[in-house]
Parts: sequence; C-alpha cells; structure tokens
Amino acid sequence: MSDSLDPLFSVAGKTALISGAGSGLGRAIAIGLAARGAKIGALDFASDQVQEVCDEIISKGGIATPLIADVRDKAALASCLAQLIEKFGVPEIVVAGAGIGRRSPAVEMLDADWQDVIDINLTGSWNLVRLAAAEMIKAKIQGSMIFISSIASLVGITNGNANYSASKGGINALTRTLAMEWATLGIRVNAIAPTHFRTPMMEKAILLNPEGAEYFTRNIPLGRMGQPEELVGTVVYLSSAASSMVTGIVLAVDGGHTAR
Ligand SMILES: NC(=O)c1ccc[n+]([C@@H]2O[C@H](COP(=O)([O-])OP(=O)(O)OC[C@H]3O[C@@H](n4cnc5c(N)ncnc54)[C@H](O)[C@@H]3O)[C@@H](O)[C@H]2O)c1
Repeated sequence: MSDSLDPLFSVAGKTALISGAGSGLGRAIAIGLAARGAKIGALDFASDQVQEVCDEIISKGGIATPLIADVRDKAALASCLAQLIEKFGVPEIVVAGAGIGRRSPAVEMLDADWQDVIDINLTGSWNLVRLAAAEMIKAKIQGSMIFISSIASLVGITNGNANYSASKGGINALTRTLAMEWATLGIRVNAIAPTHFRTPMMEKAILLNPEGAEYFTRNIPLGRMGQPEELVGTVVYLSSAASSMVTGIVLAVDGGHTAR
C-alpha cells in the first residue's frame, strides 16, 4: 500500500480504530483507510466478517487486525483497545460506526427494540470513543473522532424509526459536547450523517418495503443511494490535516437529501 495522496490528506502510518468494520460502511471505511496506509483495528461482534475484512486488507498489502467485541461491553472494548495499542499503538483515528435499526410504528415499538438501538447506536459509540479518548489523552495523542450519525438525526425519515432517529440525534449532541470538552487537548470530534447507502442494513430495509429501492431514492436529489465507498473521502478528510480546523460538525453526506 502506498500513500499517493497530497500530504494534506495523508492518513499513512496512523492507527485507526473502526467499529462496525465487519460490514457495510465500516467495512468500506476500514478498507479505504488501509488502502491509504493507515493501520486498522477492525472492531465488530461478527468475528467471521471482521476476519474476512482484515484478510482482504492484508491480501492487498495493508495492515489490519480483527478486534472482537460487542460495543455494549466496556470490558471487551477495553481489551480490544489494549490489543490494538500493543500491536499498532494508540489510535489517532476512531470511527464509531457499529449500529443497528429496528423499525416499528412508534406506538407498537417494543421496549426492547427502543433500548437495543439506544444501547448499541448511542451508548456503544459513547463507550468506544470515551475509552479511546482516555488512551489518547494519556499518550498526548492529537487525533480525530468520527461518529457515524445519519440524516435521520436531521430530517424525518421513513416511519418506524423513532428509536433510530433518537439514537442518532444523541450522537450529534455528543459530537458537539465532546468537541468542546476535548478541543484544548487537540482531539477533534465530528460526525458524518449519511443518507441511504447500499449496505446489508439497507438491503434488508429495501426488502421489507413494498416500494423497494425507489422509496429510499425519492428524497435524494442526486437520484440514487450512496455506495459505501463514497464515504471514504469524507472520512479521509476528517481524519487528516485537511480538516485541522474542523471540530464539532455533523457533515451530511447525503446527495442533497437535507438541502431539499
Ligand atoms: N446504510 C445506510 O444507509 C446508513 C445511513 C446512515 C447511517 N448509517 C449508519 O452507519 C453505520 C453502519 O451501518 P451499515 O449500513 O453499514 O450497517 P451494517 O449492518 O451493514 O453494518 C453494521 C455493522 O455493525 C456491527 N454491529 C452491530 N451491532 C454491534 C454491536 N453491538 N457491537 C459490535 N458491532 C456491532 C454489525 O455486525 C455490522 O458489521 C450504522 O451506525 C448506521 O446506523 C447507515
């Protein structure tokens, strides 16, 4: 792997910890950062999937290690972080991408579906960045935290997403407050709010919807869903010196969805 990009956008040699790296957006981000020379800690609770992602990165000459944890389990996350630090050093880039959706009409939503989505999407992301930040602060590392939020935090989306939208709204609030709290330490905190991207999570949603993919593209002015690889440029930007003055933002990568 070589870093052929402008040094302004370089992530070469940086250690990146990515949750949800076994599938979809997290997988594309792990592969995309590895292709630009970052050392990847690929974290997921789907051990086979995350192993496959690491095998793919390594087969292309990149550097990656699988880290198996449920983001709700702080002890397991701490152990993953220790493994990563031992192998590649304290992360300078953290992408909190692990997430789920559990749709149902608001009045019928099971308490368990509300709680699981909040626990994984919001509390799980909080667990990850907080543990990583403690290590960064101890090691005096100036780095970049990137939450994967959603346009569901900015506009109303498909019905049945009360739990999901609330979890992502919480992410945006965390982004701003942690950006303030860690600013003087040189740790930048930003979020990306994607529109509908073609990932296994979205393929399931498309199958469950009678109108299929058309339903999801209707509100996207560019006229199509995103491909996971189309998030890589934004992550490289937020991870590199190119965004050195950017902290506390929620950056929509949405084909114009929120500009309507
Ligand atoms: N696909 C989209 O259109 C879209 C849009 C906006 C935001 N997002 C967000 O992007 C992130 C990734 O979504 P995706 O579409 O790639 O989904 P995905 O289902 O393809 O991938 C999610 C990954 O997270 C992992 N994961 C789930 N729960 C976990 C847990 N408790 N602990 C550890 N790992 C766990 C899964 O194993 C999977 O590998 C999510 O936070 C999602 O909310 C997705």
